[in-house]
Amino acid sequence: PLRRRISLGDFRHEALSETSSTNSECLARARAGDDGFLWVTAEKQTSGRGRRGRAWASERGNLYASLLLIDPAPMERLSSLPLAIAVAVHQAIRMVLPPGAAPLEVKWPNDILIGRRKTCGILVEGEKLADERHALVIGIGINVSLMPDNPLYPVTCLRQEGSTAAPEELFAHLFASMAEVLDIWNEGRGVREITARWRDVACGIGEKITVNLPDRSISGQFAGIDDNGLLMLETGTGKMMQIAAGDVFFG
Ligand code: BTN
Repeated sequence: PLRRRISLGDFRHEALSETSSTNSECLARARAGDDGFLWVTAEKQTSGRGRRGRAWASERGNLYASLLLIDPAPMERLSSLPLAIAVAVHQAIRMVLPPGAAPLEVKWPNDILIGRRKTCGILVEGEKLADERHALVIGIGINVSLMPDNPLYPVTCLRQEGSTAAPEELFAHLFASMAEVLDIWNEGRGVREITARWRDVACGIGEKITVNLPDRSISGQFAGIDDNGLLMLETGTGKMMQIAAGDVFFG
């Protein structure tokens, strides 16, 4: 576990012009013995990955960034990490949106939406290394000036929403907000602050939603998240289900 305070100076950044996937690049560094706190960004990815084996279109113009962490936390705290990441990415994007822009919200567990359109996707991947350490890679793709088609959700990009920021400027905000939020999360009691901040910017709490699980879909009312970041779905009077992973659709 990361037992000490986390600060800006702990992080390194490697900026690439092109790579297959910044997540793959981080995993390769981990296998080669990197100690983590390494950001890798690329202007373009040739085989960007999305959640559930989907491809992530990655032409020049958007932000593709991955953060490598090694042995970040005890298992029981890891379920709240996606929420911490979403809070940090939300804070970074807020810095580059003009006043009066459409609502910037997080969608469980960690997509970021503007006006209910997807503008950022996050893919967390883990691997147990040969020396028993655990590598965790947080991959973040933000639509800055391009809007790749998404068969599942409506999409938008920051430029479309009135932002003039370039990917590098947005990354500078992300670098800072991630250090701040990970430091809070890293303190055991900080998890409560993270879940509270997540709830403040979440969309759809109280609404009817459908959650697609690998083997079926379930509908119900989105009751909120528990302190571990699990989605609570009310499926009938007083019947509450806790969901750890799935795709959420509103309405
Ligand atoms: C999603 O499906 O919503 C998650 C998309 C995550 C894309 C990012 S781009 C940077 C990093 N490298 C990858 O190959 N994927 C992630």
